[in-house]
Amino acid sequence: MFSSQDAGEVGQPAAAKPLTILWGSQTGNSEGLARKVAKTLGGKGFEPTVCDLGEYDVAKLSEESLVLIITSTFGEGEPPDNAAGFYDWLLSDAAPEFKSLKYSVLALGDSNYPDFCKCGVDIDLRLKALGATPIVERVDCDADYDDEFEAWLTSVEEAAGAATAEAAASEVEAEEPAYGKKNPFPAKLLNNYNLNGEDSAKQTRHVEISLEGSGLSYEPGDALAVMPVNDPEYVEDFLKAAGLTGEEAVEGKTLREVLTENYDITNLTLKGLKAYAELSGSTKLKELAEDKEAFKGYVWGRQFIDLLIEEPTSFESPESLLRLLGKLSPRLYSISSSPNAHKDEVHVTVGVVSYDAHGRSRKGVCSNFLANHDGSSPVRIYFHHTTSFKLPEDPTTPVIMVGPGTGIAPFRAYLEERDATNASGKNWLFFGDQHAASDFLYEEQLSQYLESGVLTRLETAFSRDQEKKIYVQDRMLEHGKELYAWLEQGGHFYVCGDASRMAKDVDSALHQVVAEYGNKSIEEAEAYVEAMKKSKRYLRDVY
Ligand code: 2AM
Repeated sequence: MFSSQDAGEVGQPAAAKPLTILWGSQTGNSEGLARKVAKTLGGKGFEPTVCDLGEYDVAKLSEESLVLIITSTFGEGEPPDNAAGFYDWLLSDAAPEFKSLKYSVLALGDSNYPDFCKCGVDIDLRLKALGATPIVERVDCDADYDDEFEAWLTSVEEAAGAATAEAAASEVEAEEPAYGKKNPFPAKLLNNYNLNGEDSAKQTRHVEISLEGSGLSYEPGDALAVMPVNDPEYVEDFLKAAGLTGEEAVEGKTLREVLTENYDITNLTLKGLKAYAELSGSTKLKELAEDKEAFKGYVWGRQFIDLLIEEPTSFESPESLLRLLGKLSPRLYSISSSPNAHKDEVHVTVGVVSYDAHGRSRKGVCSNFLANHDGSSPVRIYFHHTTSFKLPEDPTTPVIMVGPGTGIAPFRAYLEERDATNASGKNWLFFGDQHAASDFLYEEQLSQYLESGVLTRLETAFSRDQEKKIYVQDRMLEHGKELYAWLEQGGHFYVCGDASRMAKDVDSALHQVVAEYGNKSIEEAEAYVEAMKKSKRYLRDVY
């Protein structure tokens, strides 16, 4: 647990009201917001304490007077790793009544997933059921949460009776560096090449970006946010399908410009479909908008343009089109370089999303923006810092990394960092992909690390080089005895990559290894893994 800068210091006015801000986060968003809340309210007569939900002593909750909970939802409606213990406890019979507790929940989520904001919703409903009083009703935020967050914070501040009405937002911003989320750095792209061989079914780009002149810095484990621009050809198709020329004036620019730079013209959300159904009057779309399951089936492989083509309508103004669209949002990529190995540079490893569906070729906005970028224009970036997915502080601690496909990215950064800083701890990497000949990402660099001893062990699982598929978790089981020994030596276990299947299978392999080689029952193995999570020795960056 740590406190915000001035919380708890001697000399704090006696009237300062204690305020506990708890965060649950997989990627660090909630943590960042929790700190912002502490900063803002800290100067306004509150004494804030920010605490990781995983480190919070739940016995204290019934003694708190005011608690703010900021949490995201992970995977399919699950709590983020660090919030799982708290969540299970709160929803269990062990949780007491909270008659005097005042609270508010800010839930982060992504409305493209079912069970939107479920973790925050469940926590809020359970607290209410146990007698706690919300000072401000829960706010559920979608991917673009800035405005909702600010509005929630203002309401909390008013409801909690802040001492002064000074606008703290400007105070917070003044301390932030010149470039950041609100003002991305226009960076130069230095290098951009395909890591896969010609025969590969995939394209994975290694992208190098200059940070020179930005004043920005990062650490391995952080993510890079990239502001994409829509493909010009796609914008033309979109305009044509909408029956507009692109020359229409809107928002001080042409429609073509704003569609290229500011609006998400690909992603088809339920909200977008509902609005379009209303505007077009299409019965088919109206029915789809009312049936979540049917919508899920329909939306697969479809984009906004499909509505324009399949159920055409006419737009009376460019604004009436823009109203249906979300804003083009930044995409986050796990950083694959160490600043100690590449001064003034940041690298990312980007899987290019491209497929055909419903008779059209579909392309991921940001991965294709980067893949096709020739360096002639700037790439707008900022960093997304996290405190959770980091190398162990102690350089002698063993590290086990499981990163198939683009999941390799943060581990290339870790290995570069451990090499550049001469960290003496052992490093073990599990990498997997389809074929050794065409998909062994960073093969040369990894071979060099094996030779120089930076990599103590490297296990590969090339799934399609033999009849029966072999995955990283199969390698974990094969080497379970040694893996358990590394864990017993205090090793940290990291996973990066696909959340829906790989991370789950790796998690169960980890449990299996602990049970088998630690001679433990299923329950004991679960407790062992849970304790690893709690002590931040089991960390996941999955998507
Ligand atoms: P596949 O596509 O041949 O099934 C990187 O994408 C690698 O992860 C590929 O080799 C892919 O194999 C593999 N992969 C697919 N599903 C997986 C799972 N559930 N667990 C681990 N690896 C998986």
